[in-house]
Amino acid sequence: MDFRHQISAPEALAGMDVDALVLIVVGDSSDPALDTAVAGLVADAVKSGDFEFKSGRTLYLHRPAGLKAARLVVAAATAATPKAFKKAVVAALGQLKSLGARHVAVSAPFALTADHAEALATAAADAVYQYRHTKPSAAADAAIDKLTLLCAKPDAKAVKQGMARGQAVAAGVKLARELANRPANHCTPTMLADHAKKLGKSHGLKVEVLDRKDVEKLGMGAFLAVAQGSDEPLRFIVAHYEGADKDRPPVVLVGKGITFDSGGISIKPAAEMDEMKFDMGGAASVLGTLRAVAELKPKLNLVCIVPACENLPSGSAVKPGDVVTSLSGQTIEILNTDAEGRLVLCDALTYAERFKPALVVDVATLTGACVVALGHHHSGLFTADDAMASQFQAAAQSSLDPCWRMPLDEEYDEGLKSNFADMGNVGPRQGGAITAAMFLRRYTGKYRWAHLDIAGTAWKSGVAKGATGRPVGLLTHFVLAQAN
Ligand code: BES
Ligand code: MN
Ligand code: ZN
Repeated sequence: MDFRHQISAPEALAGMDVDALVLIVVGDSSDPALDTAVAGLVADAVKSGDFEFKSGRTLYLHRPAGLKAARLVVAAATAATPKAFKKAVVAALGQLKSLGARHVAVSAPFALTADHAEALATAAADAVYQYRHTKPSAAADAAIDKLTLLCAKPDAKAVKQGMARGQAVAAGVKLARELANRPANHCTPTMLADHAKKLGKSHGLKVEVLDRKDVEKLGMGAFLAVAQGSDEPLRFIVAHYEGADKDRPPVVLVGKGITFDSGGISIKPAAEMDEMKFDMGGAASVLGTLRAVAELKPKLNLVCIVPACENLPSGSAVKPGDVVTSLSGQTIEILNTDAEGRLVLCDALTYAERFKPALVVDVATLTGACVVALGHHHSGLFTADDAMASQFQAAAQSSLDPCWRMPLDEEYDEGLKSNFADMGNVGPRQGGAITAAMFLRRYTGKYRWAHLDIAGTAWKSGVAKGATGRPVGLLTHFVLAQAN
């Protein structure tokens, strides 16, 4: 989709030559910012009960009198914030995406910031996204191919920047959704590695892919233990974006890349097990973020690490009670083979040390407990680093991709004690998202670190089942902030 902005005065709306005009309104029909032609139509719709100034409400008019545009969608926002604006835009695009409009212009009666522009770009890309890789019968692509945000002259610079950022984030989100939506027989560790290499080619990135032999030589006993039950070969992907001097310490992102999580010998129940194809959502979002960053070219270095494998039961699978030696040298008693994410991550986190990172963030669909704690709105943020926590908070605000800080007190470490190894891989059921983070913390002592548990946010279940592409927005904003 082509995103652009155009400087325009409210009086010019009536003459706007577009296929559809989206008008965001706040307050009521007496709003002086409403175009006079539109104000009459809206007041009439309110009187006849067809429209209300309430969040999510829209009014569709075909060939509205007094306007040049063939279609008009009026969408109510509760405030002038980017969040309220995005909600209204999503509702409006929901109306338009199945219609014939190609060029859509959006106008709002308030000052626009970069975050508003980004919100529009990401909302539009999300609205027209259609998974079709393994579904030839999927609905045809939406007709919308050009989106113009109308803005006042003083806002133009910020709007332009926001559009560019939004476009890059949207491309990253789309990549993440495409990868995560693919079934596990398509999206294998090898296919993830091939996609990373493809991204490297198209964006000038160095991409290394290690195989089982390499990983054995390094001594990644924890990662190998998870992979050993599957015939599908593991991959350890390392991709580099170089936007600053070589000696500048990189930001490192680590994404959990379990392309299917059956639970292993500690096998999961059958219901909804198909959704465990999304267990590489961390990897998908890290690659999506890499793509967004590579397009925006900030002055920083970024390393993305993805340990990718399947977690399956078989005659060669790791068993409960088995003890393995991680790359760090610490031994782990694998009490539950379904707590595999932390096992692949701990070796990747130790591997990250070699880059002498400025900071490391790992992203993982790690625990069902995190879904219980936070539901599907906030990703779980775990870090002992207050500065990183506030940067994440700011990134969440501006990207509209929220996260919530969770505790990491020493007391939660207790549960990981084992009589047979330096630690077990699970603790008590209660507070399970925190114990998982405490496990990872034992591998991150050498650098500044944060962990995002995206088990509740990486995909949706039910009729809207599918990957969300989160937290590409959050991560991209966080990474961009490291350039300053
Ligand atoms: N991939 C799952 C986490 C998960 C489960 C995400 C359900 C989203 C929905 C992870 O590997 C896992 O199985 N975690 C276990 C940990 C437990 C064995 C300590 C869990 O959450 O049940
Ligand atoms: Mn699991
Ligand atoms: Zn898992």
